[in-house]
Amino acid sequence: MPKTTILTLREKKARGERMTFLTAYDYPFAMLEQKAGIDVILVGDSMGMVIFGYNSTLPVTVDLMIPHVKAVRLGAPEVYLIGDMPYMSYQVSIPEAIRNGGRFMAEADCDAVKLEGGREMAHTIRAMVNATIPVMGHMGLTPQSVAQLGGYKAQGRDIEAAKRLIEDAAILEEAGVSSLLLEAIPAEVARIITRRASIPVFGIGAGPHCDGQVLVIHDMLGMFDRTPKFVKKYKEIGAQIVEGLTEFKKEVAEGAFPAAQHCYPMPADVAEELEKLYPPTA
Ligand code: KIV
Repeated sequence: MPKTTILTLREKKARGERMTFLTAYDYPFAMLEQKAGIDVILVGDSMGMVIFGYNSTLPVTVDLMIPHVKAVRLGAPEVYLIGDMPYMSYQVSIPEAIRNGGRFMAEADCDAVKLEGGREMAHTIRAMVNATIPVMGHMGLTPQSVAQLGGYKAQGRDIEAAKRLIEDAAILEEAGVSSLLLEAIPAEVARIITRRASIPVFGIGAGPHCDGQVLVIHDMLGMFDRTPKFVKKYKEIGAQIVEGLTEFKKEVAEGAFPAAQHCYPMPADVAEELEKLYPPTA
């Protein structure tokens, strides 16, 4: 499979070919996603919630992310790989944003980094792009601003908020983002943004009109009981895992596992001699 680059994504947008985009946080999932032909993988800061069990993405750091991004790259060398810039890794200053973004590119072999925000991030994005770091903009529901937003709520639902998102998308494109991610906004707003953008636009909870669809891998495979409104569970892997574990527990308790085929054989005479040397104690 040839390596997916930003040119591949742009060509797909031009042809109207809908793209797929999933999160991954480790080698095996990355390998399976590449095998399935997924176009884009994000090592999201959702890792904080999905992998580490935190109740927000805020505690995630660049040092926590980098080893996971490296593992994902090893599992999916051909996929377009995006590293998610965690909370406070790009907001403090432009030099810090460039240094941290550069780590994702140089240490973890990313194709781009993603950061959250609208027009207020334009200067930072321009400086990062000038420093050769491709950036995906993330707008709409931006989980790193959960405290300011007052929860994980859909955005852009009144005329002023919708207009602001549409303007922000144009400002970010002008600042140099190579793609956009829209989270939890009405399909009508996402359609206008996608239509007006010359760069690929991906949506999670942003309706069917985006150039590609994004989901968190653990949500779409049914690893958790929770199901956000915009998630479709394509499998019930969580239930299947519990089923397998319960069967394992039962078979061990009954002595049904391990069976003969799971044990290493030994010549009968050696086994006999061993038994004589070490007879069972009463
Ligand atoms: O961190 C994440 O998983 C995200 C999602 C919106 C895909 O940013």
